Amino acid sequence: FRSLSALPRDLILATTQNQRMVRVGQRWGMRLGAARFVAGETLDDCIPVLQRLAQRGIRTYTIPLGESVSDRSEVERVVRLYEQMVERLAHEPFDKTLSVKPTNLGLVLDEELAYENAVRILTAARAEGLFVRVEMEESRHVDATLRIYRRLREAGFDNTGVVLQAYLYRTEADLRELLPLDPNVRLVKGAYLEPAAVAFPKKADVDRNYCKLVDIALAGGGFTALATHDDAMIEHAIARLAGSPAAREGRYEFQLLFGVRSQLPDRLVERGHPVRVCVPYGRDWYVYFGRRLAERPANLLFVLKSMVRG
Ligand code: FDA
Repeated sequence: FRSLSALPRDLILATTQNQRMVRVGQRWGMRLGAARFVAGETLDDCIPVLQRLAQRGIRTYTIPLGESVSDRSEVERVVRLYEQMVERLAHEPFDKTLSVKPTNLGLVLDEELAYENAVRILTAARAEGLFVRVEMEESRHVDATLRIYRRLREAGFDNTGVVLQAYLYRTEADLRELLPLDPNVRLVKGAYLEPAAVAFPKKADVDRNYCKLVDIALAGGGFTALATHDDAMIEHAIARLAGSPAAREGRYEFQLLFGVRSQLPDRLVERGHPVRVCVPYGRDWYVYFGRRLAERPANLLFVLKSMVRG
């Protein structure tokens, strides 16, 4: 059984899977408090935010928001959007990268289509010296996503990386299998609603596994993106980094989400660590916002306050 404390998270995540709730959420726009986590509805809204973070010595990555797309014309629209983003961001002088969700590339329709679309985006990105990470979504997509990542690396794309989720039992084995590729891996706890058959139901087990994955990844020859806001995980990683080849060779960075623990990026930068903040934008922000609420139901209080203020 899931613990009682997990209930609000499950409940909030369930509303993000309900199309009616998504429409209602979208209608109320940024007033619901999403503006705290999302840079705006367009890339033009997002770029000044990226610039301001760069001035504080913080690297960034951006992602246009939107969940699984269900037909080929929508997929094509997403790929064109990425090509435009690459073109637009290439002219900005600061350190920036992109992330993409495989279901947005058509993974649910056809794995081959998703792979080919990833190739299109990475080809455009490589020409402009940009890095694009393939994100990880629900557990049913993990095998296909890892297959796509491996194929991209075999095809010579070094400007890409993958994400591994500490809540999945399988992840330690996945990480060990990737290590010979010297992968660029983002380690996260995991943001989706998963059954106990595939994911640790208890936070303590997820945390323990996260620390184990940090140890394994940092001992390898790849690049590790430590994506967590959890002080215990961060301090564990900092202790492991001390004197390590990964630290000496700059093969790591901390990654944080825009609007979550907003003082944390500066504090890590002051301590001499590279930090990259994810700054999403887009009109389809509701599901992303719901996930941030689910991670910390206390954020609901913040939403209620902004509704009262109007
Ligand atoms: P945890 O949830 O235990 O939180 C630790 C502490 O951080 C909390 O006590 C609180 O203080 C603070 N905190 C965390 N979330 C907060 C919030 N929303 N609002 C306010 N405070 C908060 N997941 C995934 O499945 N696939 C992916 O590709 C990615 N990508 C990704 C990129 C980056 C840069 C980050 C930081 C995270 C992701 N995630 C993700 C999400 C990830 O799986 C996870 O859901 C969140 O990071 C929350 O977990 P924490 O590690 O922060 O710890």
